Amino acid sequence: MGVRKDVRILLLGEPKVGKTSLIMTLVSEEFPEEVPHRAEEITIPADVTPEKVPTHIVDYSDIEQTDEELQEEILRAHVVCVVYAVDDQDSIEKITSKWVPLINETVGKDGRIPIILVGNKTDLVEQSSMEAILPIMNQYSDIEACVECSARVLRNISEVFYYAQKAVLHPTGPLYSPEEKQ
Ligand code: GTP
Ligand code: MG
Repeated sequence: MGVRKDVRILLLGEPKVGKTSLIMTLVSEEFPEEVPHRAEEITIPADVTPEKVPTHIVDYSDIEQTDEELQEEILRAHVVCVVYAVDDQDSIEKITSKWVPLINETVGKDGRIPIILVGNKTDLVEQSSMEAILPIMNQYSDIEACVECSARVLRNISEVFYYAQKAVLHPTGPLYSPEEKQ
């Protein structure tokens, strides 16, 4: 793949899991009580990112975008964060019933795009969602990492985007393939 000059991160996931809030919190370093459905695309300059590459962050909203636009954005992205809410079981089930298959179908058999699972709203629960998430990570080799966070209490927000950057710039794909693991 060579050295990338920039990184394009797309956030997907069920409505209301906090995609827009995560982006706005990263930018303003405070939790916005009110957010639009879809954040404007933002570009973080190289010098303030951990890996020193300009990073574009792209939001998705099923209210504002068509399925075709969604597919175009998937094809433009270098990494996709599939966001779920740790207090929303349905948003976890949709990772495997909808989002990961949709991403894989869109990029096709010859394409590969790393996926990061992002469990938002940890401020609302005591227990980690890892028990539900680990089997999903084992099922799909394209899932590079999983991170739990909370936009509301500013927990692990920069980590989300750091893991996404890292998945593009230092892909570990083969390490995760089931054959290599044994
Ligand atoms: P759509 O644009 O409809 O797809 O939703 P979204 O995924 O962009 O979610 P959004 O950022 O609009 O947040 C949905 C609701 O969850 C809002 O009421 C937010 O204030 C709330 N929310 C977002 N992040 C957190 C969080 O970390 N903790 C808590 N408790 N609430 C959150
Ligand atoms: Mg939104």
